[in-house]
Amino acid sequence: MVRQRSTNTADVREVALAGLDLAAARRVLDLGCGFGFLAEALAPRLPATTRVLGVDVWASNREPFLSRLACRHRTGAFECLEVQRQVPWPRRSFDLVTCSYSLYFFPDIIPEVARVLSPEGIFLVITHSEHSFRGLFHAAGLDAEGSRLRALLGHFSAENGEQKLAAWFEDVRRVDYKNELRFERAHLDELLAYVRFKVPLLFPGARADGPVPPAQAEHVRATLSRRGTVIIEKDDAIFHCRRPRCP
Ligand SMILES: C[S@@+](CC[C@H](N)C(=O)[O-])C[C@H]1O[C@@H](n2cnc3c(N)ncnc32)[C@H](O)[C@@H]1O
Repeated sequence: MVRQRSTNTADVREVALAGLDLAAARRVLDLGCGFGFLAEALAPRLPATTRVLGVDVWASNREPFLSRLACRHRTGAFECLEVQRQVPWPRRSFDLVTCSYSLYFFPDIIPEVARVLSPEGIFLVITHSEHSFRGLFHAAGLDAEGSRLRALLGHFSAENGEQKLAAWFEDVRRVDYKNELRFERAHLDELLAYVRFKVPLLFPGARADGPVPPAQAEHVRATLSRRGTVIIEKDDAIFHCRRPRCP
C-alpha cells in the first residue's frame, strides 16, 4: 500500500542497494530486521553461500524473516534480542551490517557496529527525515510536537545521521530519497489502515495491534472528505558507511 500511494515510484531498498558491490559480503547482520523486507531485496545481490543473521526484539518476526530469505534461496538465522548499547559478537564478525528503518530505536549501537564490522565492510542505514509524517498528524488531529514518533525520529534521522555516523566511520555517503504518500478520497480505507499501523507511535501507551481511537478515525475521515487529498511527507536518507574507526 505504501508503494502504491508513493509519488516516488522507485523502491527505496533498491535505491539503497544500487551500486553497492556485495560480492565479498559473506556474513551479514540485519539489526531490527522486522519481516525481512530488506533481506529479501539484499539476497539476490549476495554470494550464494552468504549467511544473513536477522535480529529483532519481536520473536514473531523469525518466521517471516527466514521465509523471505528462503524464497530468495539464501540461508539465514534469527536471534530475538533487544538491541541497546552492545551486541554479543566478536570484532570483525560481519562484512555487511544493515539497519533499515530501525537505527532510531537503538542509535547508541553505532560504535558497536564499527566494532563488529570488518575493516572493508559496509554499514547500510535507511532512515526517515524528522519532517516526515506531518500530514499524518494533521489528518488525525494530533500535535506532532511531543509525540513519540517525533522523538523517535530525532534519535537518528536524515538530518542528524551523517554527523552521528561520521564519528565512527571515516567514509559516510548519503543518498536522499524524496517521497510523499498521496491519499485521495477513494483511498480512505488505506489511509485509515496506515494510521492504524502507526498507532503505537502516535498514541502513548497504545497496543501495537490496537485500533485507531474513534475521535481520530473520524478526524481522518473528515479531513480527507473536506480536502480531497491527504499528503504524508516521507522523505528518507540512505547512508553507506565504510572504514570503521575501531581501536
Ligand atoms: C520499522 S521496522 C523495520 C523493519 C525492517 N528493517 C524493514 O526495513 O522492513 C523496525 C524494526 O525494529 C525492531 N526493533 C525496534 N526496537 C528494537 C530493539 N531495541 N532491538 C531489536 N529490534 C528492535 C522492531 O521490532 C521492528 O521489527
